[in-house]
Amino acid sequence: MTEIVAETARLILRTEAPGDLDRWMEVMNTAAVRKHLGGVQERHQVEAGFARKAAGIAKDGYGFWHVQTKDEGLLIGQCGMGPIEVEAAGPVLNGALQIGWSIAEGYWRKGYALEATRAVIELAFIRHNVGLLYAQTSDANVASWKMMEKLGMERMRELDYVDPEYPPEENPTIIYRLKREDWRARE
Ligand SMILES: CC(C)(COP(=O)(O)OP(=O)(O)OC[C@H]1O[C@@H](n2cnc3c(N)ncnc32)[C@H](O)[C@@H]1OP(=O)(O)O)[C@@H](O)C(=O)NCCC(=O)NCCS
Repeated sequence: MTEIVAETARLILRTEAPGDLDRWMEVMNTAAVRKHLGGVQERHQVEAGFARKAAGIAKDGYGFWHVQTKDEGLLIGQCGMGPIEVEAAGPVLNGALQIGWSIAEGYWRKGYALEATRAVIELAFIRHNVGLLYAQTSDANVASWKMMEKLGMERMRELDYVDPEYPPEENPTIIYRLKREDWRARE
């Protein structure tokens, strides 16, 4: 059953709902959205990703939720948190929690990613009592690291790493971090 986990002024964050896979293939599995994320995927890969997300949420109570607009009632992205599981990331990052976001191209620059992410950060720090969140991107993904800076995240250069799964133009993976006390102090 679909569960609504958070509501913001314009958005709902929820678990998977019927029809999401088709809609995802149409608006999320595009060259623009996937430009820095390894490119467009086959339907079976997206389906496997959905299954991993659902399993993570069932296990931890949090994960990467789907983002839906309230006005149109349409899936426009995903936003959430989950453990970093990348061998190359090293011992500090592996197993630590990261936040992440993707929004369908037709909805960019309307503040949706920030709105959804602020809800996820609140869930992490308040409901789930998390103390520290990381975020990962690449220098090439300007929109994403600008968002990290806008969220008040701190650049952690010493934790950057080369991910062999990504091409040279997407390396190194660059790291930002947000501590609960810093977030509280700003709120
Ligand atoms: C990154 C992404 C989620 C931003 O979504 P969005 O809804 O357009 O972001 P917002 O409108 O909430 O913008 C928030 C802030 O991010 C920054 N930003 C977003 N898009 C930007 C762009 N194209 N160029 C520069 N800064 C940008 C800005 O600081 C912006 O604040 P501002 O509009 O007040 O200047 C979106 O570009 C996306 O889905 N990209 C593809 C998927 C992806 O790469 N995800 C991240 C993986 S690490």
